[in-house]
Amino acid sequence: MVSKEKYVVKKICCIGAGYVGGPSMAVMAEKCLDINITVVDISEERIKRWNDKNIDNLPVYEPELAEIILQRRNKNLFFTTNIKDSIKEADMIFISVNTPTKLEGFGAGFASDLTWVESSVREIAKYANGHTIIIEKSTVPVKTAKIIKTLLNSNKSEDSNCERTFSVLSSPEFLAEGSAIKDLRFPDRILIGGDDLDGIESLKILYKKWIPEEKILVTNLWSSELSKLVANAFLAQRISSINSISALCEVTGAKVNEISNSIGTDNRIGSKFLKPGPAFGGSCFQKDLLNLVYLCRYYGLEEVANYWENIITLNNWQRKRISKLIVEKLFNTVSLKKIVILGFSYKPNTNDTRESAAIYICQDLISNGAKLLIHDPQVSPIQIEEDLGIRQSNNIHDERKGSWMFIEDIKNAANQSDAIVILTEWEFYRQLDWRSITNIMRKPSWIFDSRSVLKPEDKKNTQVNYWEIGQGYDI
Ligand code: NAD
Ligand code: UDX
Repeated sequence: MVSKEKYVVKKICCIGAGYVGGPSMAVMAEKCLDINITVVDISEERIKRWNDKNIDNLPVYEPELAEIILQRRNKNLFFTTNIKDSIKEADMIFISVNTPTKLEGFGAGFASDLTWVESSVREIAKYANGHTIIIEKSTVPVKTAKIIKTLLNSNKSEDSNCERTFSVLSSPEFLAEGSAIKDLRFPDRILIGGDDLDGIESLKILYKKWIPEEKILVTNLWSSELSKLVANAFLAQRISSINSISALCEVTGAKVNEISNSIGTDNRIGSKFLKPGPAFGGSCFQKDLLNLVYLCRYYGLEEVANYWENIITLNNWQRKRISKLIVEKLFNTVSLKKIVILGFSYKPNTNDTRESAAIYICQDLISNGAKLLIHDPQVSPIQIEEDLGIRQSNNIHDERKGSWMFIEDIKNAANQSDAIVILTEWEFYRQLDWRSITNIMRKPSWIFDSRSVLKPEDKKNTQVNYWEIGQGYDI
């Protein structure tokens, strides 16, 4: 049996080397130089890319992540598929695996699929040795810790001579992609839920290495698990609220940015998360809202479920509203029209496209016959092909039906195009020479700016039509 002293954590294992496991353990390794951290995954491909000498090939793009990986990899940060040994040696294990929406069976379309959490826990039950602190970092339905404890206590170790005990805590992750490293270095708070005081203390000791103690909140297990779903539900609610107002602004002559500024100065409302857009995307908001809706229905709270479900309904409507208005403005047909799409990731500074509004809007335009020229600084054409479920065309000019092609040269693509649609606010797009781009478009041409990227001076003295989200005309 591996001997483990109370509170002392020397070896950490993180199960899941994704958008959460990779960056969060990189920052943990940066801040805890005396601790060995191993990030494990069932995906050989992902682990290979985390270990790739070519640092541009990491599976996750985040500002400043590559620098930390270069500094800590193979020193106190390791990436491996050897799950068994990593679990065996660990004093503390973070579960950071995917918990997507269930696609089939009971609760399909709403409940979280806990297949990967369960398989991780079964592996822990098989290989853990001595006392191990297990931390739910994945976003899970309230009461999941109970399932984890039951699974651990009812499964035997592979090694019949080994004695082991477990402490199960919840510590959900609040990082946002694109700012993950900043969020992990300077979090608003760390939440720890649990009833085992020794386990909580061990985790607090770790976080206190770089996070002020007053930012570490301790709650019971269920509050911690539920807080994560509620935080995302509240954030998503703000975006659906401002998106709904963007539509009202467009028909009344009000300007949504002026509304955001004016309501945001009320410190009871606050200024963040009031930017309208083509609908929220990302792997979390929709999934976590659906899970919340499922839980409310499960506990018989139909009105509460309906309330939260409406946020998703509004989000879906916003995407469709934008696809439809593009078609309408282009004389009710986009058939064989050349449209440049700027931005495919669901937000800037990430290569993640999960639930990106771009997927749905591009699919709508292609099914209406448009020829799309898609640009993104970080998303690969292979990823776009997978997301759209439509093969990339070799020569868009020969196509007699809706199609798409990946482009790198925006100016070249804009030549003789009918429209440019901005879907992600990459800083790079703000720096483009908009005057010369708009000059070479086929007239009458349109810019659809769903993220308010263009500045007033970009639009001056040009011969294109502009639609900007939430900007009503003076009536
Ligand atoms: P991800 O899909 O990028 O990564 C999960 C990884 O876990 C995958 O590489 C998968 O192969 C691996 N995995 C699954 N089962 C495994 C097993 N049994 N053993 C080893 N590896 C296994 O997911 P993510 O975006 O990192 O999210 C992980 C969790 O964190 C989810 O619950 C998510 O809701 C939550 N979360 C995500 C974010 C975010 O911004 N992405 C933020 C906060 C919380
Ligand atoms: C979110 C939560 O912010 C984070 O705390 C949680 O851990 C994971 O889920 P993430 O999805 O990575 O993070 O990014 P976020 O910045 O929240 O943006 C989500 C979506 O909302 C993006 O599509 C973004 O463009 C959109 N958004 C955000 C707006 O449309 N307007 C805003 O004002 C803010």
